[in-house]
Amino acid sequence: MAEDKGDGKGDGEPASTGAAAASAHAEERKLKPEIAPEREDVVTTRRQVMKLCTVALGVAAVGAAAVPAALAAVYPAGRRTVRAPEGGIDAGALADLPSDGPVRVDLVAADASDAWLHKTAAPLGAVYLMKGADGQPRCLSSVCPHLGCFVEWEAAKKHFACPCHNSAFDVAGARTSGPSPRGMDPLEVEVVDGRVKVRWARFVTNTPGRTKV
Ligand code: FES
Repeated sequence: MAEDKGDGKGDGEPASTGAAAASAHAEERKLKPEIAPEREDVVTTRRQVMKLCTVALGVAAVGAAAVPAALAAVYPAGRRTVRAPEGGIDAGALADLPSDGPVRVDLVAADASDAWLHKTAAPLGAVYLMKGADGQPRCLSSVCPHLGCFVEWEAAKKHFACPCHNSAFDVAGARTSGPSPRGMDPLEVEVVDGRVKVRWARFVTNTPGRTKV
């Protein structure tokens, strides 16, 4: 039968060996820095940040894929008219033009294309035609140079007036009052075989200079 010579606990280990082990453990604890267990709220916050980062990355990836697709879908909308009518547009017979003031003519292009469609008989806009002292036609665009409203001829006052912000122009199209930064826009006109032909154009609005759109 084995004799218990140790610390009386009956584990069979000598007392001196147990004390040495305890001392070694204590020494080891001193050498190892104590690592504090992570606090639960810190862990939760970290998880939330990671979740947010994941969501943000997902949104960025979807956006990066969607932008080119959206641009491709609306691409033609950003383009100007791809093919304007060639040459002058018929605006009637010179002989029919009155000599006592401007007359409004709605221009219709026999052949025009925009970003999507090819059209025949496409309405372009209205112009004012009048005969000069030399008997030759003059043409003014009806588009207000201020912000593009329709300018009306007021025969009683013998002037053009824009109802939007009250710009006014004399019979030759020169600005007489209002916020328009320039006079009405003249359009090129010629007579071919007794017919008046107008070269339709639009201009950038609200600028003192005249730049074709
Ligand atoms: S748009 Fe004609 S005055 Fe403003």
